[in-house]
Amino acid sequence: MRFKQPKNKMNLPSIYMKITNYQLIKYFSIVFICLAILGVGTSSSVFAQTGEELFNQRCTQCHQIHVDGTGPKLYEAQKRWTDAGEGELIIEWVQNNSALRASGKSKRANKIFTDWKGSVMNTFTDLSKDQVKSILTYVDSQKPGGDAKGKDGAAAVADGEEAKDKEEGSGWLWYILGTIFITVILSVSGVRRQLKIVTSESPQQERLTYFEEFREWCWKYRKYVGIVSLVLVLSVLVTLFKTLGNINVMEGYQPSQPIAFPHSVHAGINGIDCKYCHSSVTKSKSAGIPSVNVCMNCHKHISGAGKPYEAEVKKIYAAAGWDPGAKAYTNKTSPIVWNKVHVLPDHVYFNHSQHVVAGGLDCKQCHGDMTKMKEAVKVQSTAELNEVEGNLKLSKPTLTMGWCIECHGKYQINLGDGKNKYYEEIHARLKKEKGQKTYKRHLNDNKGVSVAELGGWECAKCHY
Ligand code: HEC
Ligand code: HEC
Ligand code: HEC
Ligand code: HEC
Ligand code: HEC
Ligand code: HEC
Repeated sequence: MRFKQPKNKMNLPSIYMKITNYQLIKYFSIVFICLAILGVGTSSSVFAQTGEELFNQRCTQCHQIHVDGTGPKLYEAQKRWTDAGEGELIIEWVQNNSALRASGKSKRANKIFTDWKGSVMNTFTDLSKDQVKSILTYVDSQKPGGDAKGKDGAAAVADGEEAKDKEEGSGWLWYILGTIFITVILSVSGVRRQLKIVTSESPQQERLTYFEEFREWCWKYRKYVGIVSLVLVLSVLVTLFKTLGNINVMEGYQPSQPIAFPHSVHAGINGIDCKYCHSSVTKSKSAGIPSVNVCMNCHKHISGAGKPYEAEVKKIYAAAGWDPGAKAYTNKTSPIVWNKVHVLPDHVYFNHSQHVVAGGLDCKQCHGDMTKMKEAVKVQSTAELNEVEGNLKLSKPTLTMGWCIECHGKYQINLGDGKNKYYEEIHARLKKEKGQKTYKRHLNDNKGVSVAELGGWECAKCHY
């Protein structure tokens, strides 16, 4: 082996004793590079500070730059507010539009709210003045355009794709920089190698191939190489994990169903309780889909004869084996095969009763307002869910791990009001000696108790 291994192990510590300035600088620059690499890996959400990042994270659910969506296009919004003589109030609008409207000091706020009747913008009280400014500056820094394309969907899609391309674009910058960096290192080492060969005292010395030299180099600096590789591997893992956690496969999924069953007619107009049909939702893990017998409780009498939906009710009869003419069962049944809409992977454990009974959550927090759902059920997007009144606002795509985690971090449980037996017991347990430390921490942070603090972030709670 040609590695220059220390002849005796006792020599090793001398490395520490003879640290020269040069080595010190080298050491710090290596640490710096490690931090930079780590920063790239994790920056996307931990240090989300730039206007572009904030815009993409907080506003794009409803706003696009050049096209109206759920909310108006944001390009030159600042100008529109300045033109209306309320240039400064736009910040307050973004931070808390409902407070601004209530204060009555902004005409523009009330006008835009009436113009976009029906849609309400979130409040962003956690954003500072500078952060809001950075978002608006980013938006206005985009090249003008889009107007000509108008409001049509194609333009909207194109705009979205452009935004995505841009996002990926900034990632590529790092790859390019990395490649340049590596090229420089390689060429410098090439020159060095040539020099070494030329100036070599002993021409007989065997020439090392690049690979051998690299190995030798790695061995020589094994400590640094180790650290750098560890950091690289870690940041790749962190990035991968985060990306996986946000992969958005479910939002908007709306399979067709064998019978055009409208929730709006049943849970809405006729006010049938969700639990009448999804009867296990408060008792068990799954909410359950009603069997055809449940439909028959009512549809024996509601045949819809002569109405447009008669054909649909006939399908119920066919499934139940009911002969409406003879008013008797024929015993020839064929189950209705509903297509499952909300699907979590097998490795995830989700329990309805835990959320609906213990957590006290309303169905609409996760499924939207089903009493208005005229068509087949669809997995609502986060933006749609955020628009439902009374919902806790989230930012991660529905049904992803990020979504579960985000709500568990944000949702505040009411421990002490005595209305919920489940928490009464936890409360009592916390107040006892063993829980004192945890209890004090909850009291001290002034924020109440989140699901996460009760264990809602533990991998094993959600994963089999
Ligand atoms: C849940 C959807 C939603 C989100 C998220 C949202 N907005 Fe809005 N925004 C709206 C709607 C809807 C309006 C129109 C006014 C209304 O109905 O309240 C609006 C209006 C505005 C206006 C006024 C536009 C004009 O032409 O005067 C600005 C500025 C604005 N939003 C900025 C932002 C910024 C910045 C963010 C991100 C930090 C954001 N919005 C996030 C829905 C949203
Ligand atoms: C009259 C019976 C009935 C009532 C009342 C009812 N549902 Fe349903 N629900 C169904 C049937 C049948 C399906 C399956 C067909 C479908 O997915 O469109 C379903 C499907 C669903 C799904 C999608 C299931 C999946 O596959 O992921 C959700 C979510 C849901 N209902 C929520 C509700 C909520 C919330 C309410 C109360 C506001 C409610 N339902 C009231 C009968 C009912
Ligand atoms: C608690 C009573 C009740 C139950 C249970 C019930 N329905 Fe209905 N259903 C109604 C009523 C009431 C109407 C509306 C009749 C009308 O407006 O003429 C209706 C209407 C319908 C319609 C036509 C809606 C339209 O306007 O297009 C369909 C399809 C239907 N039901 C399917 C089902 C299926 C499938 C089930 C079982 C999963 C079911 N219903 C369970 C009461 C019920
Ligand atoms: C915390 C979010 C959340 C709340 C609140 C919630 N659900 Fe669900 N629901 C889900 C998830 C997640 C699934 C998918 C479950 C799976 O695939 O294992 C689901 C699936 C369903 C299904 C499909 C059948 C099943 O059990 O998988 C029905 C029906 C349903 N929910 C009805 C309801 C009703 C009715 C309520 C209110 C009483 C409700 N949900 C409240 C998240 C929620
Ligand atoms: C809208 C908010 C919300 C969303 C979204 C949500 N949860 Fe929850 N989760 C709660 C609340 C509230 C509780 C009840 C707290 C408790 O049990 O102490 C809870 C409890 C749990 C628990 C029991 C935790 C414990 O400490 O015993 C599990 C497991 C769980 N959720 C899994 C999930 C999974 C999986 C998802 C995503 C598919 C999800 N939750 C999405 C709010 C949410
Ligand atoms: C509150 C519930 C919850 C907790 C806590 C949780 N997960 Fe998940 N996890 C999920 C859900 C839901 C999915 C499925 C997401 C999907 O299908 O997009 C998932 C998916 C995954 C996946 C598959 C990749 C993916 O995103 O589909 C891995 C790996 C994973 N989780 C690891 C972990 C680890 C490690 C922890 C602990 C640090 C953890 N999870 C904690 C809910 C949770």
